[in-house]
Amino acid sequence: MRARITGTGSYAPERVLTNADLERMVETSDEWIVERTGIRERHLAAPGEACSDLGTKAAARALEAAGVAASDLDMILVATCTGDAPLPSTACLIQHRLGATKAAACDIGAACCGFVYALAVGDAYVKTGFRHVLVIGSEVMSTITNWKDRNTCVLFGDGAGAAVLSATTEDRGILSSHLHSDGSLWNLICVPGGGSRMPPTDKMLADELQYIKMKGNETFKVAVKTLEESAREALKANGLTVGDLDVYVPHQANARIIKAVATRLELPMEKVVLNMDRYGNTSAASIPIALDEAVRAGRIKKGHVVMMAAFGSGLTWATSLVRW
Ligand code: ACO
Repeated sequence: MRARITGTGSYAPERVLTNADLERMVETSDEWIVERTGIRERHLAAPGEACSDLGTKAAARALEAAGVAASDLDMILVATCTGDAPLPSTACLIQHRLGATKAAACDIGAACCGFVYALAVGDAYVKTGFRHVLVIGSEVMSTITNWKDRNTCVLFGDGAGAAVLSATTEDRGILSSHLHSDGSLWNLICVPGGGSRMPPTDKMLADELQYIKMKGNETFKVAVKTLEESAREALKANGLTVGDLDVYVPHQANARIIKAVATRLELPMEKVVLNMDRYGNTSAASIPIALDEAVRAGRIKKGHVVMMAAFGSGLTWATSLVRW
């Protein structure tokens, strides 16, 4: 039994924040942001619009594309670091809104790698007998972004993407997943406050510790190295080479990171899906949004070898190889 992606969907909130808008908020320029990151604009959730709102919309589109009823889902996994609240899980809120009455539901926390981690968990459950697993990446990064910090506020955006995994006896679907972590590098990307280590206090909020802190330059180097290594690992595990890859769907953090990885792999950029110019870095939502756009644009076709690859806070890095 394999788990095959039978439908994808995505959703981005209406409001768009451009680089020109950011020029009015912090000392930055459209030129700097485009040159250093490839980002031109990003979507932001409306006040009161939460992670489950975005995730439910993306999920409904994925279910429709798959032709699977919510009531037939065995499991819902939501990859997020910006859930509606610490309790309950955002997955349970979405389970209720979709009417997925027989589904197990939980969240997965692996930051930008969350969707690839969740795909791997869903794949494992399909192999134990589940028929349909809904995997969602949904983020409202704008709520943990410090809009006064130019080092980070130009990077992130809000959005959601989803994929339905269905059991198949066909020789296609998820071929393998490769998940990694190195917690010694936890402080490259973190939100210091708001958890059990540093519960919310007036001082914590005044010190702005509820927002993302990132050592961008160090993260950049680790990202390029780990993305290259895990791509090679996934291909080797399946007896494939870079030449066999049809479509590469990387985490949309920075166009320069992706181009550096493609150069190292000798992978032509025509095979790489890039959409961070319109979304920025939407963390766990970035790969499923890019995947959905590529599927709907006809870039991903039956039989294609597709690689999804992410890195992020933890640090974590992860690759999923799929025969479509
Ligand atoms: N506008 C103008 N100047 C800026 C801005 C800005 N928005 N931000 C930083 N600068 C300045 C810096 O202050 C610095 O100035 P200085 O030399 O006078 O000190 C200069 O630009 C260069 O800064 P660097 O940090 O060296 O710039 P770099 O080329 O590394 O680009 C960036 C920064 C875009 C953050 C890059 O390092 C990056 O993308 N890193 C990886 C980020 C990432 O992918 N994170 C992982 C996912 S996030 C998650 O897991 C939730």
